Amino acid sequence: MQELIKIEGGHRLEGEVTISGAKNATVALIPAAVLANAPVTIVGIPQIADVASLSGILEILNVDVTEVASDHLIIDPSHMVNVDLTADAVTKLRASYYFMGALLGKYGYCRMKMPGGCYLGPRPIDLHLKGFEALGAQVTYNEDDLCYTIKADHLKGTKIFLDIASVGATINIMMAAVYAEGRTVIENAAKEPEIIDVATLLNKMGARIRGAGTNVIKIDGVKNLSGCFHEIIPDRIEAGTFVIIAAACAKHMVIKNVIPQHLDALLSKLQDMNVNMKIDVDQITINGSPDLKPCHITTKPYPGFATDLQQPLTVLMTQADGDSVVKETIYPERFKHCGELNKMGANIEVGEASAVIHGATKLHAAQVKATDLRCGAAVVIAGLLADGVTEIGNVYHIDRGYSEIDRKLKELGAVIYREMVED
Ligand code: EPU
Repeated sequence: MQELIKIEGGHRLEGEVTISGAKNATVALIPAAVLANAPVTIVGIPQIADVASLSGILEILNVDVTEVASDHLIIDPSHMVNVDLTADAVTKLRASYYFMGALLGKYGYCRMKMPGGCYLGPRPIDLHLKGFEALGAQVTYNEDDLCYTIKADHLKGTKIFLDIASVGATINIMMAAVYAEGRTVIENAAKEPEIIDVATLLNKMGARIRGAGTNVIKIDGVKNLSGCFHEIIPDRIEAGTFVIIAAACAKHMVIKNVIPQHLDALLSKLQDMNVNMKIDVDQITINGSPDLKPCHITTKPYPGFATDLQQPLTVLMTQADGDSVVKETIYPERFKHCGELNKMGANIEVGEASAVIHGATKLHAAQVKATDLRCGAAVVIAGLLADGVTEIGNVYHIDRGYSEIDRKLKELGAVIYREMVED
């Protein structure tokens, strides 16, 4: 049996939606919490399958997790045991690799399976491992059980230059360095808002991290980290997805709990596309966008155009009159959504690390797949626009990253439901 999401398209959406806490911050904050030696309270947790997978890993590590409310966890690592992470939970998501930095930082030892996550082409972790080695760790990989062993007698601060400004490597090295002796300097660090959020949590716990959000991060090692309270930043990718949904299908939509500055690159392109928007301090209002113009985007590390939003934006481009172009510089193979959208009547040509979207095309219902999380967002938006009932398979990808998407869309007037069917 498999679960399908079905969407009856063509309904104009209207109303308000409140954005949840950031997935890509949450999946790092949960592993970061185990660096403390006392309970850490985190609020604004999104209801996504990745959180359930990470909670499963915490359970394996004998960390107490209390769910005070669906978006409010208390993580108490006081009785934690550093066991090998070889369970399937580790391979369900990419972010399980943050336990490498956290466990190495706290215990000088971590053994865990290769992390999983969306297939977006090759996603190496060499920069994470090089960073651990620079801090004094030895890394070995066992081909038989697909496990990494990372160990260090003593972690010592040093200068680490990242060849690529990797989000994951920046956060992982920051976590490994919080207890290291002396100062660690990460150069060419990634600048994504989620990195600032993780540094903020660690600093509230007692770490000494300066420069998060710039390309040079300095970490002065400390001897103890205690508990704290932390509220997660809003999810800029979920917010961007709803802004695109509103531009594609809404009469009037207010998107609440947003930090608009995190979306500058998207909002500037939407302005070029003629989307009718009002941007306030913490919300964005969209009021119909009848004459969409095509546009060109190139994905870049933050504050450039987010790769995670190029897939949803491609759908809006199918509704613009003329040729739009997407160039990918982060994940050259992140174009599987284009094949799915073409099944629904789009006219997209995929080239090398790029796609040309010939618009405007009318979309019709089809049987499609969420080949990865943001492809899932793209086919949901296409389903909302299409004539007929679109059937989306592999919905677990969508559930890994979009909190209560069915409820949020239903409240806006969408017709969306789930069905279990034979494989
Ligand atoms: N890279 C390397 N070596 C490394 C690490 C990265 O070559 O050791 C390369 C990657 O292959 C990629 C580039 O560097 O070409 C950037 O990768 P990065 O490490 O920044 O990505 P990530 O940490 O694996 C996070 C998000 C992704 C998001 C990217 C880029 C999480 C859990 N994931 O991935 O989010 O696309 O940053 O912004 O934070 C999503 O939410 O759908 C998603 C895939």
